[in-house]
Amino acid sequence: MTNSSILTTTLQAVMAKAIDAAGGWQGFDAFMALALYQPDLGYYANDSQKFGRMPAVARMGDGAQGGGSDFVTAPELSPHFGRTLARQVAQALQASGTDEVWEFGAGSGALAQQLLDALGGQVARYTIVDLSSVLRERQRTRLAAHAGKVHWASELPDRMRGVVLGNEVLDAMPVKLLARLNGAWYERGVAMHEGRFTYADSPTELRPPLEVAGMHDYVTEIHLQAEGFIRTLADRLESGAVFLLDYGFPEQEYYHPQRSMGTVMCHRAHLADADPLADVGEKDITAHVNFTGIALAGQDAGLEVLGYTSQGRFLLNCGLLEGLDSGIDAASLARRVMVQKLVNEHEMGELFKVIAFGAKGRPVWKPLGFSAGDRLHTL
Ligand SMILES: C[S@@+](CC[C@H](N)C(=O)[O-])C[C@H]1O[C@@H](n2cnc3c(N)ncnc32)[C@H](O)[C@@H]1O
Repeated sequence: MTNSSILTTTLQAVMAKAIDAAGGWQGFDAFMALALYQPDLGYYANDSQKFGRMPAVARMGDGAQGGGSDFVTAPELSPHFGRTLARQVAQALQASGTDEVWEFGAGSGALAQQLLDALGGQVARYTIVDLSSVLRERQRTRLAAHAGKVHWASELPDRMRGVVLGNEVLDAMPVKLLARLNGAWYERGVAMHEGRFTYADSPTELRPPLEVAGMHDYVTEIHLQAEGFIRTLADRLESGAVFLLDYGFPEQEYYHPQRSMGTVMCHRAHLADADPLADVGEKDITAHVNFTGIALAGQDAGLEVLGYTSQGRFLLNCGLLEGLDSGIDAASLARRVMVQKLVNEHEMGELFKVIAFGAKGRPVWKPLGFSAGDRLHTL
């Protein structure tokens, strides 16, 4: 057996036991939480590489995959992502009179490194909150040069100040699956059948936030954990701002009648598939973000929504392209191709969005990233 199949078999056994303990059925959110975060075994808790630009190379002869990454995020793609975001963070630190940054889900530590290098003395303390202890160790190694400033927190303090950041964190938070079948709504969960995971539906009072037109069969997600996370931030952040970057859409688009298969996706070796029940622990499981739900959760809890736009527009507003024109050697060309991927509409520029909040009861200000093309009215 390869290391990865031992991992999957062991994790499967843990998850099967959890389903059994829950009476033979577990909501998809509980299943996703174990598949991603079960200590040592879940996708984010095991020691596979995960982030990077290149998939694994098949080993000669046996065709088995070893090492290699599964997907690329913006800070992994180009250091210009963090350098550009740093301009927004600098403005936010100044506007809110703070010198602290909080990053949720820091992955390999790439964004933290880019921000700390760019912001220098403007940041006195950089705190990372990440569920994965394996990733916390990688971050510690990568950020050794900034060791005096970087701290890790396993839970949020009652009161916090600073600029809060999360790149592709909301999409990694477990979602509930809902299925409309023959006009009736069910919560879609996971059961065991002949030793394998299988979907099983249970009648529910839960509904998507918007009525989905039509009577056709329809599968979608609701994001109770991500919205709870925003409410917690609203409660604890006494001064500062929050910037969240991720893929997703406003709810009119999210719950469009034609999006009848939902948005849950898996990523492994830079390929996407739609079967989270297979090969648990070996691939990432994600769902797109409903940005209307995130905005409403924040607003209802007292946060001020400061802006919402596409990642492309946000980064251009923050000056992504400034200074990129100098020199036309091969290295700078390759670098510019990566930068373009961050903003091109058919790559990360349009599907990825940025939403920002200001702390409860604090003066409203206009972040640089929304200076042109703010789409708050679309939420
Ligand atoms: C898709 S990765 C993104 C990593 C990194 N931000 C990047 O852009 O490369 C998701 C990250 O979020 C972390 N994560 C998920 N849920 C979290 C939560 N509730 N609190 C903190 N970190 C979380 C995961 O452990 C992982 O590091």
